[in-house]
Amino acid sequence: MNVNTKRKCLEDLRSQRWLAPDNTRSFAHRQRLQQMGLRREEFLARPVIAIVNTWSDLSPCHAHLRERAEAVKRGILLAGGMPFELPAMSLGEVLVKPTTMLYRNFLAMEVEELLRSLPVDGAVLLGGCDKTVPGLLMGALSADLPCIFVPAGPMLNDRYRGEKVGAGTHTRKFWDERQAGHLGAREWIALESKMARTPGTCNTMGTASTMTLVAEAMGFTLPNAASIPAMDAAHTRMASQSGERIVGMVWEDLKPSSFFNADSVANGIAAYMAIGGSTNAAIHLIAIAGRGNVPLTLDDIQHKGKDIPVLANILPSGAALMEDFYFAGGLPALLQRVHARLVPDCLTVNGRTLGENLEPARCDDNEVVRPLAAPVSERNALTVLRGNLAPDGAVIKPSAASENLLRHTGRALVFDSMADLNARIDDPDLDVDANTVLVLRNGGPLGAPGMPEWGNLPIPKKLLAQGVRDMVRISDARMSGTHYGTCVLHVAPEAAAGGPLALLRTGDLVELDVGVGRLAMLVSDDELSARRAVWQPGVRRPARGYTKLFLDHVTQANEGCDFDFLAGWSEPTEPVIY
Ligand code: FES
Repeated sequence: MNVNTKRKCLEDLRSQRWLAPDNTRSFAHRQRLQQMGLRREEFLARPVIAIVNTWSDLSPCHAHLRERAEAVKRGILLAGGMPFELPAMSLGEVLVKPTTMLYRNFLAMEVEELLRSLPVDGAVLLGGCDKTVPGLLMGALSADLPCIFVPAGPMLNDRYRGEKVGAGTHTRKFWDERQAGHLGAREWIALESKMARTPGTCNTMGTASTMTLVAEAMGFTLPNAASIPAMDAAHTRMASQSGERIVGMVWEDLKPSSFFNADSVANGIAAYMAIGGSTNAAIHLIAIAGRGNVPLTLDDIQHKGKDIPVLANILPSGAALMEDFYFAGGLPALLQRVHARLVPDCLTVNGRTLGENLEPARCDDNEVVRPLAAPVSERNALTVLRGNLAPDGAVIKPSAASENLLRHTGRALVFDSMADLNARIDDPDLDVDANTVLVLRNGGPLGAPGMPEWGNLPIPKKLLAQGVRDMVRISDARMSGTHYGTCVLHVAPEAAAGGPLALLRTGDLVELDVGVGRLAMLVSDDELSARRAVWQPGVRRPARGYTKLFLDHVTQANEGCDFDFLAGWSEPTEPVIY
């Protein structure tokens, strides 16, 4: 625990360096704020707080964040601060192409530079949809100003014909039934207005809920903030309370570097495993930890999370939805169950430790937040795989995979791109059966580019009609946290970087053994050397602007996909003010 006992004086405030001096430059700063109708008293001699808002008209999961920013402002004003709302890149997971992952680092850079370049003393970060969480946290860790995270909150539950339906998870289930001929066009259209019932993040344990809950476990939110549904009045109150709290954090100089460390990352990993979180979290955690000066590897995640069973009975590993999780007691109730695996004296943004925050927690639904003696799955939320197909690692989510496929050897059917897959996967003459291992390459950070969520490869239509609902699938891409299946993901190095996945051929035998963490192609070393000698990298499409920057600097999945020039910790710098 790094309790900071120092309290800031007014003269210590960063904003004062812009606004207070008696010179022409500061005169201009004050003049321009008054140009917006502000009185001197409103911005002088009080903490200036940024509300970094990832709201946009094309970000459905954040549709309510403009209103929430108003609640945050109320809290800031109540505590004697002055709020300023700063828009930041809005990464609505579904609509942004080719993938929001291409822009996670863009958002991180934007947050860091917004906070560095403007006269702010602290920030409230508003986001929740998948990549916005790591993007906001990575930027905040690098800027290292007092920051508090306000999770967007999950959307409310929905039902279809009496059954609970979850965003993302049921889309794939219903699509498979449609492909199998069991669901008509009219029902399919009717489902468009189902599953995503209100603003808010996916109501399953997708990447959004995974990352917001992990952020809470690492100390970045008020207690239980990540479980509150977006449309609950408690969410608005939490936003206001976060605004009030950030002002106190500024006076206490409670920066991320004061509370974020290897122990808080360990708490994040414990939460990740117990909630049955998304495989995407492995990438994001490595990137976030790196920004906070905590070196983290895939093996560290596996080691720290070892034997923590999935206790949150939420789709896709379980059966309930995030609203149920909230009513059951939310993350505090779940963390209490894995208390023995936590580092309870880690400080959090409310100035108390995680252990202190958990004291009042209670579980009100043992079916949704299971006791250790009755887990949702004995299988882990994440297993790291290695072998001659993934020397730097690959991952699988055993808790959302089929038991009978966790140890499997099958003939590879290789697709070189999504275009190739889309062109052939439903060909009635495709040489494929239920034992085939479907492989997609060139879906990684460089190959796609941006590492889209292509890893839940579709089951061929003719196999769906035969009743097949899962197969072993392997790719260097990612998979939506809302999805499920025996999908091996994040193969590193990726094919486009010359990883062994590039050498695999249709017909080769591939062996998956999750129990021992093995992923191998049963091809001799001599044969692989011969293939390597004639392998040619694919011709990369010309890129400009940000995409070129991404391609020139992104690291591989096992390294967190951060930019090489941003990864790691460096002392934050302040712009010269003159
Ligand atoms: Fe935004 Fe799932 S699409 S959280």
